Amino acid sequence: MRISTGPLASPEIAYEIARATAIHDCPDIPYQSQKNFLALFDNPPPGYTYERYLGYIDDQPVGYLELTFPQLDNLSNVEVDLLVLPGHRRHGVGRALHALAVERARANDRRHLQAATVDRHPDGAAFAEAMGAKAGLAETRSRLDLTTLDEAKLAELRAEADKRSEGYRLRRWIGVAPDDIIDDLAYLEARLNVDAPTGDINWEPEKLDADRMRKGEEAREKRGRRSYQSGALIGDKMVAFTWLVVDLDRPSHVWQNTTLVDPDHRGHRLGLLVKLDNLDHIREQRPAAEAIDTFNATENAFMLDINLAMGFRPVDAWIEWQQDL
Ligand SMILES: CC(C)(COP(=O)(O)OP(=O)(O)OC[C@H]1O[C@@H](n2cnc3c(N)ncnc32)[C@H](O)[C@@H]1OP(=O)(O)O)[C@@H](O)C(=O)NCCC(=O)NCCS
Repeated sequence: MRISTGPLASPEIAYEIARATAIHDCPDIPYQSQKNFLALFDNPPPGYTYERYLGYIDDQPVGYLELTFPQLDNLSNVEVDLLVLPGHRRHGVGRALHALAVERARANDRRHLQAATVDRHPDGAAFAEAMGAKAGLAETRSRLDLTTLDEAKLAELRAEADKRSEGYRLRRWIGVAPDDIIDDLAYLEARLNVDAPTGDINWEPEKLDADRMRKGEEAREKRGRRSYQSGALIGDKMVAFTWLVVDLDRPSHVWQNTTLVDPDHRGHRLGLLVKLDNLDHIREQRPAAEAIDTFNATENAFMLDINLAMGFRPVDAWIEWQQDL
């Protein structure tokens, strides 16, 4: 048995390996279409470059390595997506791709390799530990089942949020944010790595501005995804927001992304308010949606409490790993 690595011969092979691994590791998340997977190659989010490789047993490609290099911030980091087909594990393909990841990280002047594993199968965590990575942050994936929502509870939460947030008003948008709030949006989104727990992972604040936010949404749309957003404003200033993303080829499933309230405006239930408003937004705009999934740092009790109150329930546990070179 000969183990080797090489450049990505064809993106379609990468898709097949990524799809088979994802279905094995997280069968409840509908996997993206080939079209939308391949669209990332030509439409990356602004500020990131990629390198992609295959791992082989003899001449058969069974492993895929995708390295993501932030170029505008987080310049000492590289994100590692390392996947080996379930039927071909424990033959050293992962180890060979990891050695390549370390080599490429060094060649790009990166000092921190970062990757995530899920607890459903022992492989990912056992492998990361064997490669010398350190567990840096525990995360929980939670799901809101849109087919069994507790409408009375949601109405009660909304009444409480409305009462506590007097003076603020809500605003919704889809895709690129309107010009008059896009600077506020960039400021709030960039606070994520400051305000949300990052454990021992070296995540630095992203350098975001209106131009990068705009290009990010345009690239997302070209990847077959659309974001649905809701913000809370006081006067003309947006001080809280949240966003959901739908893969247009997989309309039953929705991802919950950042929710953030400006530190000067906390304590008014704005986080809950924008999330409840955006839940109504997505239900109106995407009636085929059946579930919303979200990741939270397990120690982020405040966000998890909001999610639990809305009806989100934990599905699985994840670890973010970091290996320092
Ligand atoms: C993690 C993954 C890439 C490993 O691929 P692989 O080709 O099986 O890895 P290797 O055969 O090179 O294993 C290298 C070492 O990791 C450890 N390891 C890997 N899987 C393990 C398991 N299930 N139990 C215990 N140790 C394990 C062992 O020490 C192994 O060396 P050994 O076989 O000589 O004992 C693969 O399981 C996978 O694709 N998992 C899902 C995606 C994922 O979690 N990626 C990891 C991101 S860091």
